[in-house]
Amino acid sequence: MLAGKRILLIIGGGIAAFKSLDLIRRLRDQGATVTPVLTKAAEEFVTPLSASALAAEKVYRDLFDLTDEAEMGHIELSRAADLVVVAPATADLMGKMAGGLANDLASTLLMATDKKVLIAPAMNVRMFLHPATQRNIATLKDDGILFVGPDEGAMACGEFGPGRMAEVPEIVAAVGAALGDGPLKGKHIIVTSGPTHEPIDPVRYIANRSSGAQGTALARALSALGAQVTFVTGPADVPPPAGVRVEQVQTAQQMLAAVQAALPADAAVFAAAVADWRVANAADSKMKKTKTGLPKLEFAENPDILATISQMKQDRPGLVVGFAAETDDVLANATAKRARKGCDWIVANDVSPETGIMGGAENAVTLISDTGADSWPRMGKDQVANRLAQLMAEALS
Ligand code: CTP
Repeated sequence: MLAGKRILLIIGGGIAAFKSLDLIRRLRDQGATVTPVLTKAAEEFVTPLSASALAAEKVYRDLFDLTDEAEMGHIELSRAADLVVVAPATADLMGKMAGGLANDLASTLLMATDKKVLIAPAMNVRMFLHPATQRNIATLKDDGILFVGPDEGAMACGEFGPGRMAEVPEIVAAVGAALGDGPLKGKHIIVTSGPTHEPIDPVRYIANRSSGAQGTALARALSALGAQVTFVTGPADVPPPAGVRVEQVQTAQQMLAAVQAALPADAAVFAAAVADWRVANAADSKMKKTKTGLPKLEFAENPDILATISQMKQDRPGLVVGFAAETDDVLANATAKRARKGCDWIVANDVSPETGIMGGAENAVTLISDTGADSWPRMGKDQVANRLAQLMAEALS
């Protein structure tokens, strides 16, 4: 996917630097050439020798190295790559970038480059939330710097919150998306994801357990193959992937409207767990406990987004993929669902509580198309996404 691409990888000085060694391997697995640059602080966490051995390339460390300058000057180094990646991007490095400082090799390369720059921030949660860091992030975004992460989670320092560096597959996908290359280049694909929230009153809603993990992984995988992705998402637990157009919605009706507004598309994948019903008599103000008894909710059926798009007479996307979340007779129900809704492929999965699939990290799916049913072994949601994206790329080529 990254064959022939040259990446200049700037490794900042943070505990997440150890993940950058794996990043070098994963980028090379995809066919990229990686030239590592280490800041002084990075050398406290990873050695130049490990970076060089994994990259099978020379490592650059010093702005005033006479040999390096004679072989390849720093200006040339900053331009020779197709993309500059900073991982981990520390608070200090981001501060230098936002302020335009150039007092070491890394910051000078970042000032001198004429290529896109993608950064993966990583720092303690307080440092990330500090107004200075938030100001710098806003400045860097205005400058067109691309971001991947940070994720939220437990940190090496024992605290919890945003600031953890994005996982390596996510960074590799963001690199692919930043380079806008791959078999899906020029294709527009709509992906729906996450649950919908159907209001009961202004403070209460009906929802479901979808985390948005599978839809997010799919959007990331399609984008990594070069697709231009419109990601229509309900209120999900996981953050949307980098490099896609994000449309945030709450309800099924809003989701349908956002999908229709995003058309035309070459393909559409409906991974959202859309609520089948909404509360027809949702209250405009908060319902109060009264002596007259329990509130009576009335339901109305929501539009079926997958069926609506599958059955469009004009402008129907060439490939429409649905999901079928089932707890019983998975294959029979999913096969019937494909026929009823009129989509091309349906990805069936068993979401019985004992499978741990709904809201979990893994999925076991069967792909049903006009050629029959193909059951895949249980695997990570990222792997399901990559495999499905690959098959979609083949079908759309
Ligand atoms: N879907 C949709 N709009 C809806 C309901 C579902 O677009 N209002 C899509 C989902 O995104 C998924 C597929 O339809 O791709 C199947 O969803 P699922 O919940 O399995 O099926 P339902 O249509 O809800 O059918 P049932 O309740 O009979 O299982």
